[in-house]
Amino acid sequence: MSGLIERYRDHLPFAEGDPVISLNEGATPLLLAPRLSQRVGAEVYLKLEGCNPTGSFKDRGMTCAVSAAVRDGSQAVVCASTGNTAASLAAYAARAGIRGVVVIPEGKIALGKLAQALIAGAQVIAIHGNFDQALKIVRQLAQEQPITLVNSVNEFRIEGQKTAAFEIAEDLGGELDALCLPVGNAGNITAYWRGFRELQMTPRMLGFQAAGAAPLVAGHPIEEPETIASAIRIGNPARWEQAMDAMSSSGGAVRAVTDEQILEAYRFLATQEGVFCEPASAAGVAGLLTYGPGDAERVACVLTGHGLKDPDTAISQVGGVISCAAELDAVTRVVLG
Ligand code: F0G
Repeated sequence: MSGLIERYRDHLPFAEGDPVISLNEGATPLLLAPRLSQRVGAEVYLKLEGCNPTGSFKDRGMTCAVSAAVRDGSQAVVCASTGNTAASLAAYAARAGIRGVVVIPEGKIALGKLAQALIAGAQVIAIHGNFDQALKIVRQLAQEQPITLVNSVNEFRIEGQKTAAFEIAEDLGGELDALCLPVGNAGNITAYWRGFRELQMTPRMLGFQAAGAAPLVAGHPIEEPETIASAIRIGNPARWEQAMDAMSSSGGAVRAVTDEQILEAYRFLATQEGVFCEPASAAGVAGLLTYGPGDAERVACVLTGHGLKDPDTAISQVGGVISCAAELDAVTRVVLG
């Protein structure tokens, strides 16, 4: 097995002999979702991006951004993050043996992501502000200091992430009517559309934002975005125009889903399909459940991150464990209700 730079070198801006920093990302499963398919009346597949090495799709872009940074002689990489980019940056910087710095909104990133960034040895800076403020700061920092910015404003990130579209196309023989996915900073929808365009495919790009953090739906930035889906708690997406172009050129749309709809989809995936994703990842499925597939017969939903990233939200959604004496009789009584 090799990483995605090796697999898709012909489509990526890397030459033979360029350094490759890889954790064997990509090649994630595309899983048929029978109960979801039945419920919405279309053939629905789940792209399990939580199966990437650090548990989210960010690894696709990060292998490219960090490989390019190393090729260009950079000794440090930085990002602003709602958590997953931070976890991915930390792992790839560790692998490359360069310095990793992440700037996060204090108190607003999921526990697993924080653990990942810290254990890999990245410098973790929590600002008293939100993601949009963090991004503004790191953009300026990277302009003034010898440190490479690896947020999705970095073109290598988009190049790497477009490979997910290639994989879906390979798995489905090029036949796909619509793609549902969560939209935060809008890099991923931009990347998928680029990937599909390179294959001359035009599935409808259906982007979903959390209702409390839906600038693309509102048509203006949101000063204080709020949602339980902390990964997409973003009020002013960096790839705004490209995302709108992807949705309008493909005949798609951008719509909002409430936190309740996101959590319902999150529980549905876990209990009905056996797939545990993080809350933000369920936004695409929430959108499909809420608005329906339209005329699409075959749909793919991108589950962007693993459920273990955010154990607090998972536990808050379910009944507690059952405390019991260490005796067969006691356990039997509980089992038989
Ligand atoms: N889903 C998850 C799990 C994410 O972590 C993100 C973004 C998105 C969806 C939205 O993707 O920003 O390309 O539109 N997370 C970024 C981060 C912002 O810092 O980890 P997007």
